[in-house]
Amino acid sequence: MDSSKHLLRLRDWDAERILNVMEMAIRLKTEVKNGTYSSQLKGKTIGMFFEKPSLRTITTFQVGMYQLGGMPVMLAPENIGLDKRESLKDVARCLSRWVDGLVVRCFKQSLVEQLAEHGSVPVVNALTDDYHPCQALALGQTCYEHFNKNLKGKTVAFIGDGNNVSNSIMALCAKLGMNFTLACPKGFEQKSEEVNSLLPEFEKHNAKYRVFNNPKEAVKDADILYGDVWVSMGQEKQKDSKKNHFLPFQINDDLLALAPSHCKVTHCLPANRGEEITDSVMDNLQVNLCYDEAENRLHVQKAVLLELL
Ligand code: CP
Ligand code: NVA
Repeated sequence: MDSSKHLLRLRDWDAERILNVMEMAIRLKTEVKNGTYSSQLKGKTIGMFFEKPSLRTITTFQVGMYQLGGMPVMLAPENIGLDKRESLKDVARCLSRWVDGLVVRCFKQSLVEQLAEHGSVPVVNALTDDYHPCQALALGQTCYEHFNKNLKGKTVAFIGDGNNVSNSIMALCAKLGMNFTLACPKGFEQKSEEVNSLLPEFEKHNAKYRVFNNPKEAVKDADILYGDVWVSMGQEKQKDSKKNHFLPFQINDDLLALAPSHCKVTHCLPANRGEEITDSVMDNLQVNLCYDEAENRLHVQKAVLLELL
């Protein structure tokens, strides 16, 4: 399977492609009103298959496809019965005869990979247990705008779990020459295979990958603090045990006070206010860029659709 036809993991894309998508996202954001791109995907359709809940991803892909002149089709997992009613191979082959791309949110990364392998249309990973590349691209665009395109040497400190979102943000940083810091309790780091695959990219840019088990250390030189839930979708059974480990890793005013004064905060959302981030930080709109990032999901995913379809 040719992974460049798809967006399965951000680490499969090179820096040039990521930067092109961000440039296109900025053009789309500014030119949406004059309709420059309003028929770019005329006659095209995407199938949207979501096994997990979503507000942002479902809305932005649907609105984005509409704004580009195409049409999204929601595919209900309970109707399809993947590998129960029908084999994944047959589902992928049939869908490929009808739609021009698939946007998939599911548990196992292997599912998006198999759909890409057995189908013949581009597959976009809309979040799996392992990655969330669209979120990382939205952060990329937000940083690109906020730092006037000067990303090299900027530091993103992810305060939380070594999870799908942090994996993709780590990949974004590695590709674009930003430093990536993870602050997490012992035992919740990213998988070493994941980190090792990106270390040469960090080294190429002279950028740093660091892990701290003390959040106060991690924020000292950060330009951006990044938050995410402590318990991801599908991990509900681990809720109580995980929460205890993560209590010291809350993004609050005290932690923010230890970061440089220019430091901003963002979060992929949804946020559990009062857990990984306080109301005071969420509602501090001088500092919190998460709604800009949420908006940029729309623009950057439209750019991804134009890149792949
Ligand atoms: N950040 C994000 O993917 O949001 P949703 O889960 O609401 O789509
Ligand atoms: N890590 C979170 C991200 C939600 C957008 C989850 O997987 O639930």
